[in-house]
Amino acid sequence: MKEYARLIDRDRVPRHVAIIMDGNGRWAKKRSLPRVEGHRRGAQVIESLMDTAIGLGIGVVSLYAFSTENWSRPKDEIAGIWRLLEMFFEANIEKIKKKGVRLRHSGSMRHLPASTRRIIEDSVGQTRNNRIITLNFCLNYGGRQELLDAVNGWAASRKHEEKLSERALERHLYTAGLPDVDLLIRTSGEHRISNFLLWQVAYAEMIFTRVLWPDFKPRHLYRMIYEYQQRDRRFGGL
Ligand code: IPE
Ligand code: IPE
Ligand code: MG
Repeated sequence: MKEYARLIDRDRVPRHVAIIMDGNGRWAKKRSLPRVEGHRRGAQVIESLMDTAIGLGIGVVSLYAFSTENWSRPKDEIAGIWRLLEMFFEANIEKIKKKGVRLRHSGSMRHLPASTRRIIEDSVGQTRNNRIITLNFCLNYGGRQELLDAVNGWAASRKHEEKLSERALERHLYTAGLPDVDLLIRTSGEHRISNFLLWQVAYAEMIFTRVLWPDFKPRHLYRMIYEYQQRDRRFGGL
């Protein structure tokens, strides 16, 4: 771990790292534990990840915690996930404030339990002026839904003679004001986007690992940031 941490060029860390935190269920299954136990261990990983990201000077970390498609899961698993998220915000809000973390939510608040919505809105509000790092929780998030919401938001807000531009659309995305994703990470060995930040990953570097999310350690992030820095990002140029 130390080796990679030392090899990282602190002036070239990604501004925005997005993580598809996958594999909680398989982590639990391997141990004959209920799936929600995997989610509980997965939630615990977030705190150390946050500290590592702060130490590296990463500006934004987006975390995919619940997709618009995850509603198709059993009701008790879904309820467990909301409960765990509420517990995460409640248990960590003071630390988050002290560390200068700004919380954001990306996704639709529709259909979230009222208690979850209240805690998210409250936590986002309390950390609004923090500047050390932005932790963007993607909950009830879908990339297609985000684009539809953005286009509809734009259409409702202006004269229709004007054509929609990239910048105008971006102002209506859930992630308005955040930079594009530089590095997309997915754990658990799956090689797909699963409807995550479709617009924002246009030129993201992607790193997939077989590590299951509850096993994700700071050393994994260091190694990935190092690997990211070895890549040649051309953005269509030469
Ligand atoms: C990711 O872990 C967390 C959520 C989707 C909420 P999974 O629950 O998808 O875990 P696997 O993919 O079944 O192992
Ligand atoms: C993506 O994981 C969503 C989150 C990590 C929150 P899934 O486990 O839902 O994705 P698929 O179904 O394997 O594509
Ligand atoms: Mg999964």
